Amino acid sequence: MTGSERTDGRRTPVPTQRFARAAQAATTPATERRAILADPGFGRHFTDHMARARWSPEEGWHGAEVCGLRPYELHPGTAVLHYAQEIFEGLKAYRQPDGGVALFRPELNAARFVRSARRLALPELPPELFVESVAELVRADAAWVPDPATDASLYLRPYMFAAEAFLGVRPAQNVEYGVVASPAGPYFSAGSAGITLWIDREHTRAARGGTGSAKCGGNYAASLLPQALAKQHGCDQVLHTIDVSGETFVDESGTMNLFIVTRDAELVTPSLGTILPGVTRDTVLALAEAHQLQAVERPVPLEELVGRIDDGTIVEVFASGTAAVITSVTALRGPGTRVAVASGKPGRRTAELRRHITDLQFGRRPDDRGWSYPVLDRLGADSGEPS
Ligand code: COI
Repeated sequence: MTGSERTDGRRTPVPTQRFARAAQAATTPATERRAILADPGFGRHFTDHMARARWSPEEGWHGAEVCGLRPYELHPGTAVLHYAQEIFEGLKAYRQPDGGVALFRPELNAARFVRSARRLALPELPPELFVESVAELVRADAAWVPDPATDASLYLRPYMFAAEAFLGVRPAQNVEYGVVASPAGPYFSAGSAGITLWIDREHTRAARGGTGSAKCGGNYAASLLPQALAKQHGCDQVLHTIDVSGETFVDESGTMNLFIVTRDAELVTPSLGTILPGVTRDTVLALAEAHQLQAVERPVPLEELVGRIDDGTIVEVFASGTAAVITSVTALRGPGTRVAVASGKPGRRTAELRRHITDLQFGRRPDDRGWSYPVLDRLGADSGEPS
């Protein structure tokens, strides 16, 4: 492990421990695990292990281990419960054609975790430690990585929170880091049929200088009411907007970044700033040229989005995210607005980009950009598990 720097610039001691591999056997019987993997849903089931580490100013990062999944015992005064000093990440492990397992661009998640930590005044976890914790957890729970036939994968959720019991408003001096894993099928039940978005102009997810580009729990807490309203209006997800100098712009959609395909083959997405810098967003932009699309990052006025869907010059809309991968947006609704995108069916470019990305993730296509990060060769026998 290397040392880490606090936001106040203080260097912490260099700890010596790394993520020690757990001796604990799996606790879920193999039959139960197989039944879960046959229909995992999203976020409903957890694997047998977790990764953990702790931070304090005196010791820096220490106590790193992969252990059996277990609950925390928190003092009621624990800072995260009061001031939401918390960040998280989302990435997946994919079963490869030879039975091995690979991550996809995990160093981007590690770098974003550092940036989120900085914004939330949490200690920075060295990126190599982040990747190691995730890789070690996947190795311990390799039997939980689904068969790729259904595009299911093992969703990994690293997180960090203020664990100090103290009611003053200042950065916590005791911090917990952890990673849990959950087998994941499609995020949306509508799946490849596409989703509808409710345009929310009443609430703001993020403002310039706020926490919009950090992956912190507070952003998601603030999105829950707009998301519930979207459901009440019969839509799958909310489309967040942001007002700048009297004009309304597209921000992001629920848990995803938004993309537009125009009739003249531009692939437009809102510029970074208040939105989350998505790993899938970055991947889509990098692949645009291979799909004869010209990638454009710029502010997207809401009026332009609705107007150009209406006049047919926007031909496809889709959303991207680790959980959602690439999900087609087939219609938008809002107070006084109701537009279907083109024919109201998922578009060709959306389907092709989704296929390209999932083929890279599942190793069905040569990894010519070095994005795949193998963590296991072939899976051995299900050793050490109760049957
Ligand atoms: C992801 O796509 O990984 C996310 O973090 C979205 C999530 C909140 C389900």
